[in-house]
Amino acid sequence: MLPLIFLASLLALPADTFGAPTDVVPVSGQAISLLRRNQYPRDVTEWGTFAKSQRDNLIAKYGGPVKQKRSTGYNSIIDQQYDSSYYGSLAIGTPAVSFDVKLDTGSSDFWLAGPSCGTSCGSVSIYNPSSSSTFQNLSTSFSIVYGSGSAEGYVAQDTVQMAGFSVSSQGFAVVDAVSQGLLASPVSGFLGLAWQSLASSGQMPLWQTLASNNVWDSALFAVRLTRYKNDSTAQDLEPGGVLNMGYTNSSLYTGSIDYIDITGTPSYWYIPLTSLTVQGNSISIDSGTTAAIDTGTTNIGGPASSVQAIYAQIPNSQPATGEWEGYYSFPCSTTVNVEVSFGGATWSISPVDFAFTQTNSTECIGAFFETSTGTGSPSWIFGDTFLKNVYSVFRYNPPSVGFANLSSVAVAENGAGGAVPSATIGTISAAVTNTSDAPRRHALSALSTLLFLAFSAVLFL
Ligand SMILES: *[C@@H]1O[C@H](CO)[C@@H](O)[C@H](O)[C@H]1NC(C)=O
Ligand SMILES: *[C@@H]1O[C@H](CO)[C@@H](O)[C@H](O)[C@H]1NC(C)=O
Ligand SMILES: *[C@@H]1O[C@H](CO)[C@@H](O)[C@H](O)[C@H]1NC(C)=O
Ligand SMILES: *[C@@H]1O[C@H](CO)[C@@H](O)[C@H](O)[C@H]1NC(C)=O
Ligand SMILES: *[C@@H]1O[C@H](CO)[C@@H](O)[C@H](O)[C@H]1NC(C)=O
Ligand SMILES: *[C@@H]1O[C@H](CO)[C@@H](O)[C@H](O)[C@H]1NC(C)=O
Repeated sequence: MLPLIFLASLLALPADTFGAPTDVVPVSGQAISLLRRNQYPRDVTEWGTFAKSQRDNLIAKYGGPVKQKRSTGYNSIIDQQYDSSYYGSLAIGTPAVSFDVKLDTGSSDFWLAGPSCGTSCGSVSIYNPSSSSTFQNLSTSFSIVYGSGSAEGYVAQDTVQMAGFSVSSQGFAVVDAVSQGLLASPVSGFLGLAWQSLASSGQMPLWQTLASNNVWDSALFAVRLTRYKNDSTAQDLEPGGVLNMGYTNSSLYTGSIDYIDITGTPSYWYIPLTSLTVQGNSISIDSGTTAAIDTGTTNIGGPASSVQAIYAQIPNSQPATGEWEGYYSFPCSTTVNVEVSFGGATWSISPVDFAFTQTNSTECIGAFFETSTGTGSPSWIFGDTFLKNVYSVFRYNPPSVGFANLSSVAVAENGAGGAVPSATIGTISAAVTNTSDAPRRHALSALSTLLFLAFSAVLFL
């Protein structure tokens, strides 16, 4: 989901002012207590991994050889409301508590509903700062406006665990108010997966902390999103695919990954949009047109003139009205084939995804809608309608977005049903337990931890 107020990030102070987290530290080797979920079940192999990681952590902590060992991890995604939204899970605080968060490559802030949120956050689980011994209040205000809502609160830091990685002093926001409809239970907040320069909080996003600290085998993350809109037996929550951190899973795609460098300074994951065809006919695209690749947006938004040109290729389509303003209706009996290119290979969007929803027995609403974005923002937003059709890779260095065809294994996961995955915080396997590239920061953060502990001790006496 794209934050509307790009201005906010321009006004934000440089990250260093807030002390962007760069230290990645070992967790203590204890099982994470997941308050709302079943404890991660361990089999013998997992106990082995656990034992090994505990030993590695101790070696790192007590002055053994500093190994710059890298690792990978994954997070199971959940498909919410028939491909409307995709969320994952992480754990935060000490003791760690797990939360479901919308995975959003179209924004860069991580935030969770806080104790003051009250009714505006509905019945979602709340992050409670007073229950975490590692909570640090940065006491700066936070506010973000997305295309479909807004959130505000204050900026803080805490230890965050996700996909087997742990980051101490990860910046995020505790939210006091959200606009209605932004959070759909059980989702408690957003995990922004775009670049720091876009963060309203000024904080470095979790993924970027991990990538820039060389924690990952490969400095990239990848996303595979399932399709359930096509399944008449689909439930409100279904297995949604996976977020791979530090690697690409070659079982999920075929051929090679076609990487396109991102346009300009990294902020959004934006790449050139070079070609768009509907029913085999080209839609004219201005040169220099860019598209943001956005897991947090359900559909595909583009400039009014281009969207009109798309529906002009579909007989009997017409602008929709009322709450559907900006969308178009078309006869459901028409199979619409769209192909898109970002400068490299050409990718197809399934007609099933193009037909976003049906309003009566014959009329469908198309997934492409008219939108206008601000200057400096990409003019197109490619959301889940497109992403369900490919394996997507978000690469740190060189900054680029890659796509590959889905494998038959991946395609078979569409509509396959089965249990909704529980929180996959994972057994912490982060091989890098100390960052030697930022010793000064590390020392400072150790000092602040000591001060914090001393302060807490005073409070508890
Ligand atoms: C953190 O700081 C903000 C701004 O000063 C304040 O409103 C909030 O109550 C503080 N939170 C906690 C848990 O102390
Ligand atoms: C839609 O669902 C049907 C029946 O499950 C399946 O055969 C077909 O491949 C699906 N289409 C897409 C594009 O996923
Ligand atoms: C790769 O994907 C396949 C298919 O979903 C899965 O069975 C396998 O565990 C995955 N491997 C890794 C390392 O993620
Ligand atoms: C479906 O909705 C469209 C637009 O509102 C209308 O023109 C059409 O007559 C409706 N069809 C049926 C079968 O109700
Ligand atoms: C993806 O699959 C399509 C259909 O099989 C094929 O035509 C195309 O060349 C493939 N693209 C890449 C980049 O492998
Ligand atoms: C982390 O690495 C730095 C540089 O190698 C070293 O000076 C420091 O003692 C290490 N800290 C820990 C906790 O291992």
